Amino acid sequence: MKDIEQHEMSPDDWDEMNFSRPDVQGFDDVVEAAITRRGFMGGVLTFGSGAAVMGTSMLRGTTAMASQADRFAFEQLPIQTDGTVHVPEGYTWDVLVRWGDPLFSDAPAFDHATGIPTEGSDRVFGENTDGMELFKVGNHELLVVNSEYVNPKYNLAHTNDGMPTSAGDVLRLQNFQGVSVMEVTEGVNGWEVVVDSPFNRRIHHNTPMVIDGPAAGHDLMKTQADPTGTASLGTFNNCGSGRTPWGTYLTCEENFNGYFGTTEEPTLDDTHVAGFSRYGVNTEVDTNRYNYHGFDARFDISKNPNEPHRAGYIVEIDPADPESTPVKHTALGRFKHENAAYALAPDGRVVVYMGDDERGEFMYKWLSRDKYVPGGDTSTLLSEGQLFVAKFNMDQSGEWVALTPEATGMNAPEIAIFSRIAASTVGATTMDRPEWIAVNPTAVEGYCCLTNNKNRGVKPNAGGDDTSANGPNPREVNNYGQIVRWRPSGDNHASNTFDWDLYVMAGNPTNQEGAYKGSSNINEGNMFNSPDGMQFDTTGIMWIQTDGNDDNEGDFEGMGNNQMLAGDPVTGEIRRFLTGPNGSEVTGLTWSSDRRTMFVGIQHPSAPFPDGEGSLPRSSIVVVKRTDGALVG
Ligand code: FEO
Ligand code: CA
Ligand code: CA
Repeated sequence: MKDIEQHEMSPDDWDEMNFSRPDVQGFDDVVEAAITRRGFMGGVLTFGSGAAVMGTSMLRGTTAMASQADRFAFEQLPIQTDGTVHVPEGYTWDVLVRWGDPLFSDAPAFDHATGIPTEGSDRVFGENTDGMELFKVGNHELLVVNSEYVNPKYNLAHTNDGMPTSAGDVLRLQNFQGVSVMEVTEGVNGWEVVVDSPFNRRIHHNTPMVIDGPAAGHDLMKTQADPTGTASLGTFNNCGSGRTPWGTYLTCEENFNGYFGTTEEPTLDDTHVAGFSRYGVNTEVDTNRYNYHGFDARFDISKNPNEPHRAGYIVEIDPADPESTPVKHTALGRFKHENAAYALAPDGRVVVYMGDDERGEFMYKWLSRDKYVPGGDTSTLLSEGQLFVAKFNMDQSGEWVALTPEATGMNAPEIAIFSRIAASTVGATTMDRPEWIAVNPTAVEGYCCLTNNKNRGVKPNAGGDDTSANGPNPREVNNYGQIVRWRPSGDNHASNTFDWDLYVMAGNPTNQEGAYKGSSNINEGNMFNSPDGMQFDTTGIMWIQTDGNDDNEGDFEGMGNNQMLAGDPVTGEIRRFLTGPNGSEVTGLTWSSDRRTMFVGIQHPSAPFPDGEGSLPRSSIVVVKRTDGALVG
C-alpha cells in the first residue's frame, strides 16, 4: 500500500515524506508593506505582505497593450476535463510515438495488459517523455527525447504493487528511462519513427558515460567499479533538455536521489552525511521508490557511497554519432537540474541558464571561459568557465554571484559536487521551484517557470535557508506559481547584473482573494496553475506547459486538465492552445525543421491514453499541425 502511494507521489512530496523538516520559520518576516515599482512594460508591479498583496493589477502594462492586434493564430481553447488531447479549431493532432513503441524491428510487441517484457526493453521508446529537441543531420530529422522516470505499476504489471521483485524487474525499469534518439519522417500517413534507422539509440541507466570537469577523478567520485572517478554508468531522471549551437543535446538529471537506498545502516563521514541530507539521498534501510539497491549494489550506498555523487549533472550527447559516449559536465554543477537554456554573449562566450527544481532551491548560470566559433573547437565550452547563482534584490535588480573557492570556502571539485551548499554559502535567493528556463530569441531576456511552493513562508529549504516571501517569490503557500523574467545589464547575457520583473503570476481570479487571484494577464478564460515547461518559437512567442493540480475543484476550479498556452512577451497576453488527458503533464516541445509541425510531450496520463479503454496509459509524443499547412512556430 505504502509503495503504491510512493509511486504515485511527486518526487518533491516523496522527498519531504522521507526528509521532513521542522517548521522553524515564522510568518513575521514576509515582504513588508506594499512597494510600487515599474515593470519592463511600463506597468506597475505592486507587492505587499502576507495575503493582502497585489490584487489583480500586478501587470497593468498588459491591459494597456490589450488593444494591439494579438500575434496568436488561434482562438483560445476552453478548459477540458477528459481523457484525450484537444487543440484549437484549425489545428490537428496525432500520436507520433508511445512508451513501448519499437525503435528497432527486433523489439518485443507491446501487450496492452502487461506492456513490454524485460528482454528487449532497451529497444523501445522510453517511459514518461519529457524534454526534447530536434536535430537535422544531413537529410535526417533526429528527435532526441528524455524519458524522465517510470510508472512501475504499469511497467511491472505482474507485481501488483509495482515494486521490483527481481534484478530483471529493476533492469526493465532502468531500460525504460534515459534518452531516446530516433529518426522521424513525415510520409503519406503522417509523422512516424524510422524503425531501425542507424541513428536510433537508447541511452539508459547502464549506458557508459564520461565524467568531465572539476569533479572528474576526485576521491568523492571514485567507486569500486571505477577507481578513476571518470567513467560512470547511466544518466538519471532526465527531465528538461537543452541544445548547443554545435549540434549536441543536453539532458538534465533532476531527481536522481530517488534511485539510491541502502540495505544496511551505512557508515558515512560528515561530507557524505551533509551531502545526502542536502540532496535527499535516503540513508535509512528501506525499499524506497524503486528498490534498485535491493537488486543492484551500485545503488546501495552502504556499498557504494560515492555513486550518488556521479548523478545530478548536465549530460551532453551527440545525436549525429550513435557510437559517441555521453559526457557528464560537472562544471555546470550538481543539483536537481530542470533544463539547460543556451544563450550566446556578444563576445561569443557561451551562457547556460539552469534551474534547481526543489522547494527553496536556486537558479544558476554557466559562463564559458572560451568563445564559441562555428566549426571551431568546442571541447572546453562546457568544461572551462564559471558557475554563478542568482541573487534577486527587492528593488528589481539582481546579480549573478560567482561560486569560487574564495567566495565559498570550498575547492573546485566540492563546488561542482555540492553546488547547493556552495550557493547557500553566498546567500543565493531561495526560489519557488525553478523549472524550465527559456531565452527569448527576439530580445535579450530570460524567463524561468517557478512552478509552485507550498513551503514558501512555511519552512526552510533542505539546507536550512530562510524561505520567507521575497521579490520574485512573493506569495506564501504558493500553489499556483509564477514566471520571472530578467534582462541582463548591457543587453549582455555574460553580465553579472540584471533587472527583473514577473511576467505572470498564475492564480484563480474567480474564487481567490488578493495575490492569489493572479496577475492582470490571468482571467477566467485562460487560468492555469504550475507553469513548468517553456520554449520560445522563432517568432518570439513563449509556449508555457503546465504540471499542476488538474482536479478542477476548489482552488483549482476552472483550470481543467494540464495544458499548453502561448504567451506574448511584449503584451503579456496568454492564451490556452492545447489540453492534455486526465492525470497527464504536458511537457517537452520542439518543432520540425520546416516549422510546420510541433512535437508535444504528454507525460504520465492516468486515462488510458492514447489507445483507449482496456489498454495501459502510455506517455506519448503527439504532433500538432495546422490544417492549412502553415507554419506553427
Ligand atoms: Fe522534471 Fe521539475 O520537472
Ligand atoms: Ca518539469
Ligand atoms: Ca513539475
